[in-house]
Amino acid sequence: MKKGKKLYEGKAKIIYATPDKNLVIQYFKDDATAFNNLKKSNIEGKGVINNRISEHILSNLSQVGIKNHLVKRLNMREQLVKLVDIIPIEFIVRNIATGSLTKRLGIEDGTVLERPLIEYCLKDDKLGDPIISKEHIITFNWLSKAQLDLVDGNLKRLNDFLLGMFRGVGIKLVDFKVEFGFTNESNKSEIILADEISPDTCRLWDSITEKKLDKDRFRKDLGDLIPAYTEVAKRLGILHEQSNVTAVNVTKLSSVKKKK
Ligand code: TMP
Ligand code: ASP
Repeated sequence: MKKGKKLYEGKAKIIYATPDKNLVIQYFKDDATAFNNLKKSNIEGKGVINNRISEHILSNLSQVGIKNHLVKRLNMREQLVKLVDIIPIEFIVRNIATGSLTKRLGIEDGTVLERPLIEYCLKDDKLGDPIISKEHIITFNWLSKAQLDLVDGNLKRLNDFLLGMFRGVGIKLVDFKVEFGFTNESNKSEIILADEISPDTCRLWDSITEKKLDKDRFRKDLGDLIPAYTEVAKRLGILHEQSNVTAVNVTKLSSVKKKK
């Protein structure tokens, strides 16, 4: 698929046009940011692993009836995805209290929640992605009540699916953030899951040791981010054929492929 002009550049990904007006190319960068861009770095190989992990998860979501933007992975860093108009809301689902929830409400870190907690944040870096309520979403017409119910249903099914998938490979799904958007295929607008699901957007702890296998390694300066993300990919069975290949080697493979 021919790559056209850059349409949008975010903190971790770039979106490019394609000859098909309904499809775009999503490119995974190695950039890592936290605290609304206050902390920045470039971690070689991160984009390659996130591309693979997100492909693995999104391609399995149709099993549980969660429509999403993925068409196919094109290469080490790029996916062909459906063009969507992103809803300006970060949808967060939590199973264990940590991160901003503990700071905001004084809940003890590591508290297992009795039921999954859904939170909504306005996707606006300048405002620091403030938490909002369902009433805000409906009042400001970001979604109708029926659309919000549909998204909430998707979030619960997605959480069940991800909990099971990660539990099966010895990982606790602590929380995650996802985004949804409106498609405009054949002028029929539909809400589908977009963006990515990866260790950048989830908190993942080893089931036994509770070692962090996600972007908190960067946020909290714990180091060894690539080995942690590689561990997640290996456990999901994505990197099995290259079990001793580091992500950096994977990056080199990708640049060799591109030069051809
Ligand atoms: P939080 O505890 O910092 O609010 O994060 C909740 C979850 O959302 C966690 O899995 C990290 C993820 N997240 C993002 O993917 N992007 C963001 O900008 C933020 C703030 C959180
Ligand atoms: N993604 C957000 C940022 O770039 C925050 C985070 O993931 O912690 O600042």
